[in-house]
Amino acid sequence: MGAPDKGARRSGSTRRQFLLGGTVAGVGAAAAVGIDLALTTPSGTTAAAPSTPLNGSEIVPFHGIHQAGIDTDAQAHGTFVALDLRDEVDRDGLRRLMRILTDDAERLTQGRGALADSEPELALTPARLTVTFAFGPGFVARAAGTAPAWLQPLPAFAVDRLQDEFSHGDLLIQVAADDPLTVAHATRMLLKDARSFTTVRWTQQGFRRAYGSVAPGTTMRNLFGQVDGTSNPKPGTTEFDTVVWAGEGWLTGGTGMVVRRIHMNLDKWDKLDRSGREQSVGRTLSNGAPLTGTQEHDEPDFEAKTSVGFPVIPEFSHMRRARPDDTTQRIFRRAYNYDERPAGSDVSDSGLVFVSFQADVDAQFTPIQRRLDDLDLLNEWTTPIGSAVFAVPPGCAEGGYIGETLLA
Ligand code: HEM
Repeated sequence: MGAPDKGARRSGSTRRQFLLGGTVAGVGAAAAVGIDLALTTPSGTTAAAPSTPLNGSEIVPFHGIHQAGIDTDAQAHGTFVALDLRDEVDRDGLRRLMRILTDDAERLTQGRGALADSEPELALTPARLTVTFAFGPGFVARAAGTAPAWLQPLPAFAVDRLQDEFSHGDLLIQVAADDPLTVAHATRMLLKDARSFTTVRWTQQGFRRAYGSVAPGTTMRNLFGQVDGTSNPKPGTTEFDTVVWAGEGWLTGGTGMVVRRIHMNLDKWDKLDRSGREQSVGRTLSNGAPLTGTQEHDEPDFEAKTSVGFPVIPEFSHMRRARPDDTTQRIFRRAYNYDERPAGSDVSDSGLVFVSFQADVDAQFTPIQRRLDDLDLLNEWTTPIGSAVFAVPPGCAEGGYIGETLLA
């Protein structure tokens, strides 16, 4: 699981999947046959299959030890929906809910319509779709399961200006793909099936560079223009496995997830000169190199001094403060940018849907956030306005369902 599996591209079985997977009533047989040979062009008409495979056909495997959407190379678009359980939903209800949602996710991520899909054609372009489920404290309590000690709201931080409309929730669904239409359709299908069990608490949408705009593997940029995500454990390494995957009880193979909505004050940032911007993080804007280096992945030298004796990388820069001396305090960041309609006469309402995965939120995330709360130059321009903590259960095998280790 994880990185897109080039070999798992949709094959000639598309038509069979289409016929079996979606609600075909009302869709003419000719259309169903044609779908094998035709691909929708950007103009909405159909064209013969091109010789180079389309990214829209790329599939990320659904089944596995871990859920997809964590070690998967981050897709261009992400929607995060937090749901609250309806009062009457009991443990059996949770099991039914997760079986249905797993079935939806399994089909949609593999390029097939959900059962009773009202727009099955929209499912035919998975574009590396992943659907990742995560449980809040309320879900685990309703399941009468043992919650990890860290599964609770984060402690209050002085920088926080949290709004309830972006915080907490019983069940989180992260839907991500390289195509926003795919994300919208998958989200809608999942929410339709969740509707009799849950109500929507909040939704947050985020984006990165569009697929194909930059070379694969390029570190993302946030709306401050910073290269954001350089110092991050790399999926597929032992370090990543240690940082991310939990190893206890029903959560074995799962992880802890922190979602923080962090507003970035672009108008205030506009007033800062380039050097001030680079000092606030300790890295250059041009390529994200530490101020003591030339390349993005150069090791920063925190001892280096300027000619007048100041550290080249300020002690209170975001990178210095976020970097733990204790190597157990590491997290895997997988953030998305947001850019919403501004209020009143403001020009922007932008920021990060900050997402991090770590096996133990208390031991890994919280100490970093505490240090940033105490002192971080970046705090001048950023404000956390939403916060939620979830436990991401492990993946499942074919025939199983997400959450079975907690609910079976
Ligand atoms: C809007 C808010 C934030 C912005 C704009 C931001 C931006 C950045 C940038 C540009 C870097 C340097 C490049 C990199 O290694 O990714 C960085 C590093 C880092 N950030 Fe943030 N960040 C934000 C919030 C946070 C939060 C809330 C945390 C965790 C509590 C965090 C943890 C880290 C860590 C661990 C690093 C790597 C430090 C290292 O080892 O070099 N950041 N961030």
